[in-house]
Amino acid sequence: MKALMVKQFGALVVEERPAPVPGTGEVLVDVHAAGVNFPDLMVIAGTYQNLPPLPFIPGKECAGIVKAIGPCVTLVKPGDRVMVQIEYGAFAAQIVAKQINCHAIPDALSFTEAAAIGLSYMTAYFALVERAQLKPGETVLVTGAAGGVGLAAVQIAKALGAHVIAAVDSPEKAAVARANGAGHVIDTTVADLRNALRDEVFAVTAKRGADVILEQVGGDVFDACLRAIAWCGRMVVIGFASGRIPDIKAGYILVKNIAVIGLQVSDYRDRQPEKFRAMGQQLFELYSAGKIKPHVMATYAFEDAALALKAVQDGKVIGKVVLTTA
Ligand SMILES: NC(=O)c1ccc[n+]([C@@H]2O[C@H](COP(=O)([O-])OP(=O)(O)OC[C@H]3O[C@@H](n4cnc5c(N)ncnc54)[C@H](OP(=O)(O)O)[C@@H]3O)[C@@H](O)[C@H]2O)c1
Repeated sequence: MKALMVKQFGALVVEERPAPVPGTGEVLVDVHAAGVNFPDLMVIAGTYQNLPPLPFIPGKECAGIVKAIGPCVTLVKPGDRVMVQIEYGAFAAQIVAKQINCHAIPDALSFTEAAAIGLSYMTAYFALVERAQLKPGETVLVTGAAGGVGLAAVQIAKALGAHVIAAVDSPEKAAVARANGAGHVIDTTVADLRNALRDEVFAVTAKRGADVILEQVGGDVFDACLRAIAWCGRMVVIGFASGRIPDIKAGYILVKNIAVIGLQVSDYRDRQPEKFRAMGQQLFELYSAGKIKPHVMATYAFEDAALALKAVQDGKVIGKVVLTTA
């Protein structure tokens, strides 16, 4: 089978590999589409927190058809259409995954969309529902709001009855965030972001601030967000796409009774797989109800994965880019 391989960190090569064989409780899936995520950049570069031993196939999600099952598999059967969540290995024509990590997908969902709905939507959903305990009517500020996790968060927060403020760095991204449910958009390229972001959030929340902030950019954006949070607000730390991991001044946490909460969604996949699976089905229900819809900016052949990764690296992606085997 064809696979993208990392043999040394920083380089991706296309290779023919032997087809994997499912063991007990495992499933072999013919991959039709694989979503590209920001963490893939770090995994390939060798800078991610969880790194597989070299050589390895990267890729954290895919969608396709169950080709074969190993012993003791009861949750899926050959022919089922599934979305797969995995630590690495999805950038290949075939993949072996634990049955619990293979999510049955609705008939109306294409493989491309199913791959796009994977890690980004799971991350956004866990951040809003599990970590932030979002309530209808609350105001959610989403940073990096036109990216994979960001746009998913805008759609899901809106679907759950929240008011959504999106923070983005271009007019094009602002338009997309608005079209996907953001009631207000903040430009993160303004000169005095530290004050401007708080002023804008306060202006549209009657000086209350944002009840929930989903923060995935880090650096100056994180610092500004911490000043724009409401009393008893919750800030979920999702990532540091800008490259700077911020330090938190504990005084902010104390004086406003706020919670700064971490999220590593793959831990839920591995430690609480039943809950992870149930959350996946809830997302598919939102999709079937027409409340969320992944925005796939472009698809690339597996051979062109470097182009897809470059688009993510440059912060150019609106929604998701997806690799396809067709
Ligand atoms: N915690 C978890 O479990 C988990 C799971 C998945 C992803 N993540 C993290 O979530 C973040 C978003 O991931 P994603 O896959 O949605 O990525 P993405 O689609 O590339 O979105 C990242 C967004 O970050 C912003 N950004 C700011 N500075 C950037 C830079 N120097 N390079 C690239 N983007 C930059 C961009 O928005 P603007 O230009 O509008 O600011 C961009 O849209 C990443 O930090 C990733 O590591 C965390």
